[in-house]
Amino acid sequence: MKLYLEDRSPSIKDRWDGRTTASAQSARILVPRLVRATADIYGVSLWVSTVDTVGLPEFKAAQVALANAWRVREVSVTETDTPGLIRVRALVTNPLTCTVEMAPPPCPVTDWGAVPMGPDMWGDPITLPIKDASGMVVGGNPGTGKTAWCLGLITTLAPSDSVQMAVANGKAPAPMIGDYRGVAPRISHLLGSDLEEVVEFLTGLQAEMNRRYTLMWDQLGVDSFWESKSAPSPQWPVLVVLLDECQTWMQDPRVVDLTADIEAKCRGAGIFLILATQKPTDNNLPTRIRDLCTTSLCFPVRTTAAAIAALGEGLREYPEMSPLHRMRPEFRGVGTIINETSSGYTQFKAPFCTRTLAAQVAHATAHYTRDFPGITVGRGHRITAQAPSAPVRKLRVVRGEKVTASTHPTSARRGSTR
Ligand SMILES: Nc1ncnc2c1ncn2[C@@H]1O[C@H](COP(=O)(O)OP(=O)(O)OP(=O)(O)O)[C@@H](O)[C@H]1O
Ligand SMILES: [Mg+2]
Repeated sequence: MKLYLEDRSPSIKDRWDGRTTASAQSARILVPRLVRATADIYGVSLWVSTVDTVGLPEFKAAQVALANAWRVREVSVTETDTPGLIRVRALVTNPLTCTVEMAPPPCPVTDWGAVPMGPDMWGDPITLPIKDASGMVVGGNPGTGKTAWCLGLITTLAPSDSVQMAVANGKAPAPMIGDYRGVAPRISHLLGSDLEEVVEFLTGLQAEMNRRYTLMWDQLGVDSFWESKSAPSPQWPVLVVLLDECQTWMQDPRVVDLTADIEAKCRGAGIFLILATQKPTDNNLPTRIRDLCTTSLCFPVRTTAAAIAALGEGLREYPEMSPLHRMRPEFRGVGTIINETSSGYTQFKAPFCTRTLAAQVAHATAHYTRDFPGITVGRGHRITAQAPSAPVRKLRVVRGEKVTASTHPTSARRGSTR
């Protein structure tokens, strides 16, 4: 490892002394200059200004030697946007095995092209593009983190008044049972595994997509949602639709036809479809739907078939990125992702979204929840039949008109009216 430049060309003094052709009496040592250093929970980053003949290739060749010399887990050297400046990343912990709890979202999402996702294998934040995207497939063996990631995404998006979300959970016998019960207040339409309800919902979603295309020019002045400067907005929200355990309905030709049509056309209408299933092989998710998703995400899986189905044939060229290697408990929540904005496969660790946080954020932002226009199915969870915590207000009927009177907890509890 020789990360310095030994300059033996004669100096002005050497030339003055008559040493014009020979090498200098003493060499000048040029060391790449440390421009900036930062530290985080995973390690340190150093920005280094390179010198002649000691640049990116030389630093890359010295990665292993640097890791040994510094006694750190791993060192990676990458170029930066500035010519002559490289970044040396030294990791002391593995970001993929560190479980980090998701923090409450600090503000509503405004950049729809870069929704925060979590740290990648080098501890650098990565993002998910929803802007200009049709949707994503989410694969992963049971218990590897698909639903937790979906809850995290709902929690990240919830504080924005410019998004509406719908969820169908193939695992839930009824809408208010299971994983999405806590976030229900922020979900416009919540469905369980009932096939007919899912068909009705998707039929309504297809109609809404077509209605958006019909109205878009008149109301937004564009032909495609993401070209608009005034959308997403509360009037024209992004519609995020999650079908968790989507294999539940994919044997039904109506669901397949509706989902394929929506997936193919929804990008320009501002609709983003998320299809989560444990093994996204063609028997669980037909390829004509799966292959149109703009993002593919795969949590740990046990077979190559499942990994390739989720992430595409390209994964064969990057075996080190295979989610097969992550089939251990400490890698729960580690996703391998590829999309049209990333330069290849990336692995990241999803911050763990607890159900408590998800429910708190959903309650705090419930006032943003609106119906998807024209869709009535899956609204039962928003019409609450729970006992009121405050005393019921007694109603007094005066000449056929309802008039609010004083409260009377005892009579209210007995259900008496006067
Ligand atoms: N990002 C994460 N960090 C740490 N642990 C996680 C993470 N995500 C999930 N887990 C752990 O894994 C468990 C299972 O996660 P989750 O319910 O999301 O799995 P799943 O892939 O949806 O499984 P299934 O296919 O059975 O529904 C969680 O209860 C949690 O303990
Ligand atoms: Mg799940």
